[in-house]
Amino acid sequence: MKRKIIDLLCQKEDYFISGEEIAEQLNMTRANVWKYMKELRESGFEIESATKKGYILKSVGMQLNEDTIYYHFKKQNFVKNILFFPRIDSTNDFLKYNREEIPDCTLVVSTFQTKGRGRRTKEFLSEEGGLYFSFMMRNTMNMQEVSFITSLAAVAVNRALLSLGIDTEIKWPNDIFLNDKKLCGILTEMVTDMEGYNKIIIGIGINISNVFPEELKEIAISLLEAGHQINEITFLLNLFSQFEYLYNKFVQGDREEALKVLREKSYLMSKEICFLKGSVEHKGTVVGLEENGNLVVRLSNKAEIALNSGEVTILKKKK
Ligand code: BTN
Repeated sequence: MKRKIIDLLCQKEDYFISGEEIAEQLNMTRANVWKYMKELRESGFEIESATKKGYILKSVGMQLNEDTIYYHFKKQNFVKNILFFPRIDSTNDFLKYNREEIPDCTLVVSTFQTKGRGRRTKEFLSEEGGLYFSFMMRNTMNMQEVSFITSLAAVAVNRALLSLGIDTEIKWPNDIFLNDKKLCGILTEMVTDMEGYNKIIIGIGINISNVFPEELKEIAISLLEAGHQINEITFLLNLFSQFEYLYNKFVQGDREEALKVLREKSYLMSKEICFLKGSVEHKGTVVGLEENGNLVVRLSNKAEIALNSGEVTILKKKK
C-alpha cells in the first residue's frame, strides 16, 4: 500500500494531494493515510503537509530501505520489479524458488543472507556490511552466450564503481578485485519455469563495510577498508544502467565494449596461474581473453589453451 502512496505522491509531483483524495483512491481511512505518511517520513521521505491542502513530496533520502529503493528505481525502466529484504536466506534462491510467481526483470536486494551461495556450492559469507542482490531475466540465449552474461555483470560492477571513483579489476571469470583482494563475487544460474521458459538469475555480493573473520582478512576486502564510502542505491542504479546498456549491445551481437573493459581491467592478465584440466594440473601465463570470454593461457611448451570455466590459482604476482 505504501508503494501506491508513493505512486500518487509522484504523480502529483509539484502539487498537493489531499488526504481525502488518497484515502478515496486507495480505499483506506484517513487515519491509515496518516500512518503511512509517518512511515514514509521515517524511511527518508520529506513530505510536507498543510491544512486544507494535503501532502506534497519534497525530496527522498538515499538511505537503503524498501520505500526509498522503490522510489529511486521508478525512474528507470530496466528493473521492472524490486523487492527488499533486510534479511533473507539467499537472494538467488528466493528468485529460484518463487520464479513462477515473480515477473521477469525482478531485482531482489538484501543486506544479510543466512545461506549465501557462491560458485561450486561454496558458502558465500553474507553478513552485515555487504550488499547482496539478484536479478532474474528471461533467457533467449544458448549456453555459450549465457556464460558471457557473468562477464557483462562484472563489467557493469566495474563501471558502476568507477563512476563512484573506485578503480577495480575483474578476476576471470566472476570476481571483482580491489587491492589484490576479493571485493565482490558474481553467481549466474539458469532455471526453467513450468511453461518451459529459461530464466537467468544473476546474483552479486559486494563488501561495502563488512568486518571479516580472521580467516578471510587476507583474501577479502570491503570498500570501507579501502577508504571508500558509497551509497548503495546510487551504486545499484549505476550498475543496472550499465548492465542494460551492455546487455542491449550484447543481444545485438556487439561485445566489443565489454571485451575492452574485460581485457583492460583483467586481474589475471600476464600472471602465472595453475589450473586443473580434467584431473591434470597445468601451469601457464595468462595471455589473453577470447571473444567468447574464454581465458587464454600459454603453457611452458608455448602451446596455448583456452579455459571456459573453472578455478584458477595465481602462482606469482605480476610486478
Ligand atoms: C562467488 O564468489 O563464488 C559468487 C558469489 C555470489 C554471491 C551472491 S550474493 C547474492 C546472491 N545470492 C547468493 O546466495 N549468492 C549470490
